[in-house]
Amino acid sequence: MGGVHLVDHPLVQHKITLMRRKDASTNSFRRLVHEVSALMAYEVLRDVGMHEVEVQTPLERTTGNVIDGKKLVFASILRAGTGILDGMLEVVPSARVGHIGLYRDPKTFVVVEYYFKMPSDLHERDVVVVDPMLATGHSAIAAVDRIREYRPKSLKFVCLLTCPEGLAAMGRAHPDVPVYTAAVDRQLDEHGYILPGLGDVGDRIFGTK
Ligand code: URA
Repeated sequence: MGGVHLVDHPLVQHKITLMRRKDASTNSFRRLVHEVSALMAYEVLRDVGMHEVEVQTPLERTTGNVIDGKKLVFASILRAGTGILDGMLEVVPSARVGHIGLYRDPKTFVVVEYYFKMPSDLHERDVVVVDPMLATGHSAIAAVDRIREYRPKSLKFVCLLTCPEGLAAMGRAHPDVPVYTAAVDRQLDEHGYILPGLGDVGDRIFGTK
């Protein structure tokens, strides 16, 4: 079951607007990425599996539900995915983490993988792929293609922002993968940036510009 899930909670929308400001400092931008990602995790993990455990309260024995965080994998597309990853790990610290490094060959425009490391037994795990911007969709599609080779139990894609072009590309390539986003912006520019967007999210998180 794919589709687009717009996380339109006022707290998320408020923080995305603060992030759009050109003059947000690296510190504040990075903090906002963490906060938005942690808030988005609530929606992304709404249907995560739970099991019942017995607990002893100070007064009596009872039962409660817990999630199995170890069965969950956050798969971060390097390098900007790290920002979302950190925020999501704050709310699910026991989750496993995968990394995939991709770049676009400047001559051929083909997506080249330079790093791939996922937890073992992906077929038993629910995988959430994270990358802040679903723009052209090239990296997202390549990452999902690759992770799919391991037949994960389920697969979701989470970004902060996307655009009609990115959603269309992802929908064509992986119609069954749900996309969670805080906003669908107007369009892509000729350099593959989302408008009005957030600018280069990697540079803004890491202060590399
Ligand atoms: N990557 C970014 O960092 N920003 C965009 O707008 C698109 C891709």
